[in-house]
Amino acid sequence: MGVSVLVGSQWGDEGKGKIVDILSENFDIVARYQGGANAGHTVKIGNDEYILHLIPSGILRENVICVIGNGVVIDPTALLKEIRFLEENNIKVDGRLFISQNAHLIMPYHKLLDNISEQGSTKIGTTGRGIGPCYIDKYARKGIRIVDLLDKKILEEKIRNNLKEKNNIIKKVYEQEELNVNEIVAQYMEFDEIIDRYIKDVPTFLNTSIAEGKSVLLEGAQGALLDVDHGTYPFVTSSNPTSGGACTGTGVAPTKINSVIGIVKAYTTRVGEGPFPTELLDEDGEKLRKIGAEFGATTGRPRRCGWFDAPLVKYSTMINDTTFAALTKLDVLNGFDKIKVCVGYKVDGKLLNSFPTNIEQLNKVVPVYESCEGWNKDITECKSYSELPKATKEYLNFISEKSETKFGIISVGPKRKQTFFTDNYKPN
Ligand code: GDP
Ligand code: IMO
Ligand code: MG
Repeated sequence: MGVSVLVGSQWGDEGKGKIVDILSENFDIVARYQGGANAGHTVKIGNDEYILHLIPSGILRENVICVIGNGVVIDPTALLKEIRFLEENNIKVDGRLFISQNAHLIMPYHKLLDNISEQGSTKIGTTGRGIGPCYIDKYARKGIRIVDLLDKKILEEKIRNNLKEKNNIIKKVYEQEELNVNEIVAQYMEFDEIIDRYIKDVPTFLNTSIAEGKSVLLEGAQGALLDVDHGTYPFVTSSNPTSGGACTGTGVAPTKINSVIGIVKAYTTRVGEGPFPTELLDEDGEKLRKIGAEFGATTGRPRRCGWFDAPLVKYSTMINDTTFAALTKLDVLNGFDKIKVCVGYKVDGKLLNSFPTNIEQLNKVVPVYESCEGWNKDITECKSYSELPKATKEYLNFISEKSETKFGIISVGPKRKQTFFTDNYKPN
């Protein structure tokens, strides 16, 4: 299987968790490369549901080794909770999970600052998990990394220095109570004792494994349009979910990557603020939310819903160089008589040639729609492309053509068996 990158192609929640779980049956290693506990990746196995935030979804396959790369920001509380949850469900983590020594740690002040900055003038609608402030410290070269836990003195000094600045903001600007350095040091030292056995030199491990012929799936969180460079800035997350982020976030070079697998939802959703050209604020939007159970896996917030946006997916396929995509949640469209697809964007009556990431322009776009016939049939039992109703095939082919994206995997329900492969499935 070589090395593949799996990316969300829209605004997150495309069904990455489910597809990683399906694909990891054939991979030796699954590695997360960015984001943090802002992610919520759902996997349904039989009647059990697992929601993973930090640990790769490959953990549910017992032969798979899981890795958290340097690009991920780790909240110790969230990680320990997740490890406990898996162990309570008889999923062995010890010996199967490795964490990069260079991954940055989310500190209590990051979560606090995330939540208070959301009360300011530019509300992003973050998940409140401290993601932005942690990446700010990383790039300001003030971050605290897993490796800093090795020496209590260094850790204490770094936290003390950080707190001088943060407490000033917390107290003077936001008039909230200062954080205590000793309490934080004690908490993080305790964390170190538990995670010590998971720490690894991840680039060496991954590159040696690849040289030995092992297959690696690099699992992205969020989605291309939430990318801090290529997304709908500033309404984005603070990392690079796009395929390029997989290299910097793990230490695996671009020359090692054989394929990029995009995850595309059969319609569009978004959580949080920001432009959404095909958003439906009517009963069709409600219907998508209800049938698709579109509520955040991390925060429980209702997701905004809209029609499939071909220019957006086309852009995403371009920046990720998607080899093929998995199309998910096709079954959610079962009960629609007509299904609209956005095939272009107009600004001031003129068709745009490319996706505008400039927020002012994106706010002005008027979607151009074409309608497809609904199939009004239950497709959740379909086991192959040929079993799909004619109208479903037409919808698939239409969105594939308009978004210039090939669908190699089709998902018609949340369960493992509600998945099939097409001729476009080419992992290498
Ligand atoms: P992720 O963040 O990309 O992993 O996606 P989430 O887990 O946040 O959201 C996807 C939701 O859709 C989860 O509840 C999945 O169980 C569910 N899901 C995935 N694929 C399908 C599908 O093909 N059909 C339906 N109905 N649900 C699906
Ligand atoms: P998965 O991996 C959907 C969104 C938030 C907010 C913006 C910034 O499950 O697809 P952050 O907390 O990252 O600073 O929030 O990004 N967001 C997601 N939306 N799926 C996710 O992850 C998301 N992670 C962050 O709602 O709009
Ligand atoms: Mg999610």
